[in-house]
Amino acid sequence: MHFAKPLAGRTSLALGFFLALSISEGLVVRAQTAPSDVAAGQKLFRANCAGCHKWHGGGGGGYGGDALSLRKTKLDRAAIIETIGCGRPGTGMPYHLRDAYENGACYGLKENDVANGMALAANNFLRPTEIAAIADYVIANVKGRGEPNYAECVAFFGTGSRVCNIYGDQRTAGAATK
Ligand code: HEC
Repeated sequence: MHFAKPLAGRTSLALGFFLALSISEGLVVRAQTAPSDVAAGQKLFRANCAGCHKWHGGGGGGYGGDALSLRKTKLDRAAIIETIGCGRPGTGMPYHLRDAYENGACYGLKENDVANGMALAANNFLRPTEIAAIADYVIANVKGRGEPNYAECVAFFGTGSRVCNIYGDQRTAGAATK
């Protein structure tokens, strides 16, 4: 099913990057399926990113330091994919590609080039297709959004979640926002 979908130019660029990575891992088949599934991306975002960037991607202080706002980010899809996979050595943004610093794929750096403890490994490593799905979710639902609101919170957690009660005033005001 995914093979039938033509790849957009920007997608194939990023894919090429990860394909090159994957060949060394023998993961070519998986990398080629490249599903850009925003819903799957949301689940992955919730499990892997929301702990630091918050459910709304607005980031803020907390575990891992000051996570930048993905709502205000200027990064394009390719740069978001790179940031997720490679992390940002020297900051609290961890890398999610298992072999990020094994073959120079990330910023041309290998393990020895990265000072001890500077490149933080994520708790869970992700596959290139999963990283692409998260990036697509960020582009579709997070980047460029203003302040988080009740409707958006419910869309994220589902109706009936107490997490969204803090936006209760908006709920009673008919989800009027901004
Ligand atoms: C352990 C905490 C932590 C986790 C988990 C984490 N991040 Fe980050 N992230 C950060 C921090 C801290 C920064 C700020 C880095 C800096 O100062 O440049 C950051 C920066 C970023 C940036 C750069 C934003 C910009 O405009 O420059 C992106 C994109 C990003 N994170 C996406 C993600 C995504 C997507 C996930 C999940 C796959 C994720 N992060 C998981 C802490 C985290």
